[in-house]
Amino acid sequence: MNFRELPKVELHTHLEGCAPPAFIRQLAHEKRLDLSGIFTAEGGYDFRDFDHFLQVYEAACTTLQSPEDFRRLTMAVLEETASHGVVYMETFVSPDFCGGGDLVAWTDYLAAMQEAAAEAEDKFGITLKGIVTGIRHFGPEACKPAALCAAETYGDFITGYGMAGGEMVGRPADYAYSFDLAREAGMPLTCHAGEWGGALMVAETIRDLRVARIGHGIGAIDDPTLIDEILEKDIVLEVCPGSNVVLKAVDGWASHPIAKLRDAGVKVTVSTDDPPFFHTTMTAEYDMLHQTFGWGEDEFKALNATALAAAFCDDDTKARVAKRLEPAQ
Ligand code: HPA
Ligand code: ZN
Repeated sequence: MNFRELPKVELHTHLEGCAPPAFIRQLAHEKRLDLSGIFTAEGGYDFRDFDHFLQVYEAACTTLQSPEDFRRLTMAVLEETASHGVVYMETFVSPDFCGGGDLVAWTDYLAAMQEAAAEAEDKFGITLKGIVTGIRHFGPEACKPAALCAAETYGDFITGYGMAGGEMVGRPADYAYSFDLAREAGMPLTCHAGEWGGALMVAETIRDLRVARIGHGIGAIDDPTLIDEILEKDIVLEVCPGSNVVLKAVDGWASHPIAKLRDAGVKVTVSTDDPPFFHTTMTAEYDMLHQTFGWGEDEFKALNATALAAAFCDDDTKARVAKRLEPAQ
């Protein structure tokens, strides 16, 4: 079966994490930065574990220094993502990497991303929306300007607020101020939890940050009471199986809990997280889900309907994207 052509909705990507290594190397060359330490001899990103991944990620981000760099990045990412059938994508973007949390700078970076998104929509038939992201290991204080940038730019392109980064830094309640600020601005919320922190971190995130979606959330599988709560609150999981396998959050594809979560009635969706880092694509994710759990076109269509319903964009955009998910007449 060829899943590449199947139209797809992807909710959990990190924009800088979608940068191909060759793109980052080119920017490093242009700016005379020595980033040789973050690449393997074959030219891929080189990291040992999750913490090292975050360090390599941030080193790669040092090459992205202007709105124009983000315009080029957004175009390159959308062309590649659309080539795997993705018709709608949400991506985490961080004011920390776009002008250091300064609102005026942030609006310039956003304008450049939006310009590229509009061009890519015309050329490649993919819609992009951004979710402003606080970076957890930068600490609760650093997440406040990110949330402020989110609230000030919430609109057509920026559709939500969330948090990524080192999951084991602090407790969810430490970050409540930022989430409250974004919620009071009317923004939908998501947060990485349960990739490393198990069911307890997922439960605290739901309780203290009151999110609609959880990034990863796979640790929830160990707590039936929490599963009941996820069902009752209609919380959607942004599951990234290939990322979990490469970072060793699970032992391998066969033991990945996505099928058990889905069987329990949880609304799971599938995304790539940071595709070039994890040697994955949406096509590869679908291929592995097919090989591992026997999922086919029916399951994938249902998955995409779940993802579109859980998307943070407006209803007009959803209606437009829904047409792209219908089979060609
Ligand atoms: N997980 C957590 N934080 C991140 C990631 C990720 O995969 N990518 C960039 N920041
Ligand atoms: Zn992620």
